Amino acid sequence: MVALTLGMPGLRRAPATVDDRPESPALVDRHGRTARDLRISLTEKCSLRCTYCMPAEGLPAIARDRLLSPAEIARLVRIAVRDLGVQDVRFTGGEPLLRADLAEIVARSAAVAGGASLSLTTNGIGLDKRIDALVAAGLTRVNISLDTIDRDHFARLTRRDRLPAVLDGIRAAHAAGLTPVKINAVLLPETLEGAADLLAWSLATGSRLRFIEQMPLDADQTWQRDRLVDAQALLDELGRRFDLTPIGRHDPAAPAEEWAVSGHEIDGRPATVGIIASVTRPFCAACDRTRITAEGAVRSCLFSDAEVDLRALLRGDADDEQIADRWRAAMWAKPAGHGMERADFARPRTSMGAIGG
Ligand code: GTP
Ligand code: 5AD
Ligand code: SF4
Repeated sequence: MVALTLGMPGLRRAPATVDDRPESPALVDRHGRTARDLRISLTEKCSLRCTYCMPAEGLPAIARDRLLSPAEIARLVRIAVRDLGVQDVRFTGGEPLLRADLAEIVARSAAVAGGASLSLTTNGIGLDKRIDALVAAGLTRVNISLDTIDRDHFARLTRRDRLPAVLDGIRAAHAAGLTPVKINAVLLPETLEGAADLLAWSLATGSRLRFIEQMPLDADQTWQRDRLVDAQALLDELGRRFDLTPIGRHDPAAPAEEWAVSGHEIDGRPATVGIIASVTRPFCAACDRTRITAEGAVRSCLFSDAEVDLRALLRGDADDEQIADRWRAAMWAKPAGHGMERADFARPRTSMGAIGG
């Protein structure tokens, strides 16, 4: 099979089977990529119900004993960093702040993370009350999701009237010095209109805003390609109020392409706005992510339902090298890309809230 999908550079011929895996300690895949960015989902629970992510009633609850414990998470972090070459660790959800033991998870992970960064992708609710403990535990950065600064619109979109709590969380992240504070906004027909206001607000608060094209990862399965607000539509809208100059990606594996916003600075550097154009400008060929679900399975791609369980090994008598090797085998099978451009594209069974953005 030839792996040249998406018309992207960097992909090479795919050997046929898992047995062709090279002797490498790192998380390499058969398309020539190496995963160095680990994302660990901590829970399926969330304090919001964003329509592009969660069903109104929330996701089916995961029994407590099926979730990884802080000690199990830290063991995976240790293996990932020490044996597999992971350099960045990010905790996601659902909403990671809903884990009461989050500070313990961060502290135990920090103790074994070596030089790897430890960050959080969160909706920000309750962050102000937890941030001191999290920073003391070793948290280095946060990305906070915020799609609009209009309170009514926020309440409709998230099915919860919690905008003030999110803004408190963002303020707390700045006050704690967790720079850069990045804001993620999902692009939707209804958010396009407020996009320039959101950018103005982000510039005023010194936050680095990135817009994300909506992906077919909503639990309600209402995503439609022909309703997509793409990067170009956003640039046209922002261009009416701001002077934007393309910069590109600071790192080829970064999901966001950046634009400089003339006349503005953040933390003494030129202000930027980013676009994560996963649908119209996919970056799968440079993807460097590996994921662990809240139940302890490896997912090689956001769009693949294939899961390889590590929890049974963690709870059995497997040693670290056996766990590392199952993880490597799972990543070797990572698909070339999400394949959204193909006529036979099938969305994954699991939604974003369950996989962890
Ligand atoms: P930084 O290193 O802080 O820039 O983080 P990040 O952008 O990698 O992480 P974040 O959790 O903020 O992710 C931002 C958004 O990028 C997510 O909400 C997703 O929409 C998208 N994203 C993250 N990972 C992937 C991925 O593996 N594939 C695709 N297609 N999109 C992703
Ligand atoms: N498409 C794109 N991004 C999404 N997120 C949640 N669902 C989707 C989707 N369908 C983003 C959130 C948050 C992160 C966890 O994932 O906005 O930034
Ligand atoms: Fe919760 Fe984030 Fe999903 Fe919104 S996008 S429902 S905040 S997990």
